[in-house]
Amino acid sequence: MQTQPTVEHKPVIFSGIQPSGMLTLGNYIGALRNFKLLEDDYDCVYCVVDLHTLTVRQEAAQLRRRCLEIAAIYMAVGLDPDKSLIFCQSHVSAHAELSWILSKYTYLGELQRMTQYKDKCAKHADNINAGLLTYPVLMAADILLYQTHLVPIGADQKQHLEITRDIAQRFNALYGDVFTIPDAYIGKVGSRVMSLQEPARKMSKSDPEETYVGILDKPEDIRRKLKRAVTDSDGDIRFDPENKPGVSNLLSILSVLTGDSMDKLVNELSGKGYGELKTRTAECVIEALAPIQAEYARIMADKATLQAILDRNAERASVRANRTLDKVKHKVGLAPHGKA
Ligand code: TYM
Repeated sequence: MQTQPTVEHKPVIFSGIQPSGMLTLGNYIGALRNFKLLEDDYDCVYCVVDLHTLTVRQEAAQLRRRCLEIAAIYMAVGLDPDKSLIFCQSHVSAHAELSWILSKYTYLGELQRMTQYKDKCAKHADNINAGLLTYPVLMAADILLYQTHLVPIGADQKQHLEITRDIAQRFNALYGDVFTIPDAYIGKVGSRVMSLQEPARKMSKSDPEETYVGILDKPEDIRRKLKRAVTDSDGDIRFDPENKPGVSNLLSILSVLTGDSMDKLVNELSGKGYGELKTRTAECVIEALAPIQAEYARIMADKATLQAILDRNAERASVRANRTLDKVKHKVGLAPHGKA
């Protein structure tokens, strides 16, 4: 008998973004933009990972609001909640449950080696909680629950994807082929958008305002921030991330957003000065963000509909996630459930 191909037969994508602040141009270029580009060819699962955000102290009302805002941003970039699964991590309890189980197949040493763990410990020295250490295990649970093939992420999350693969392979070696082993999808250009003020560091939503462009920034703010972006003093426009991180960062942003090759941009801009580079980048960013901002405002004007979409998608996600979770529980020997 022939079966009709369904959406579920496409390879699976999973990715997530923390609701720890309003998103930046880095989140857009490194992740969100690719979420949309990949949507038609994959069975996509896009999550607002609110449990991860608890690793750093949050103001409760603000965190609740941000979960909705990030879900609205997902839809504002064009993701279709009837095609892709868009939901909040804490609404699907399988994520926390699988994370607990997987932590028994993850070694302390490998968690302590994670760069993000070390960075966060340095940044939040007053609150080095156990969740900062086990953060990648929850991330592994997110990904592995959906039998994910591909994970679109920025370069800073590569190490977390590697440990996810290690955990999955370790588990599979013990219990058979329980998990699909996922690959990272990291864009060739723009996988690490840098801070506008300290171009040796990545652009981050937890840094001061002037260091990043926010997805919802007004045109005048975008112009001001880019005008003040740190470059260098030799006046030469060329792509050389090591020696000219500021200029190379602006060129990367421009290249991703226009689709023009680096060579073409450098040829066009050479001899024109940093002022021109900054103006062009600013106008290009404003143009890319304008439709997202308009759509975001439309979606946020009807929060009841947004909430209903998230509720419905969390139910659909739970069904899928529980298939994997039930299998894992059985394999490790947890007591069978009456319904199983
Ligand atoms: P988060 O919330 O820090 O960032 C979300 C996504 O944006 C990418 N990104 C960047 N890309 C390029 N340049 C930048 N400056 C930049 N800043 C952020 C991140 O690489 C990421 O892809 N741990 C994850 C969230 C997560 C997750 C997952 C991701 C939890 N579970 C499962 C994928 C799969 C994080 O903190 O991302």
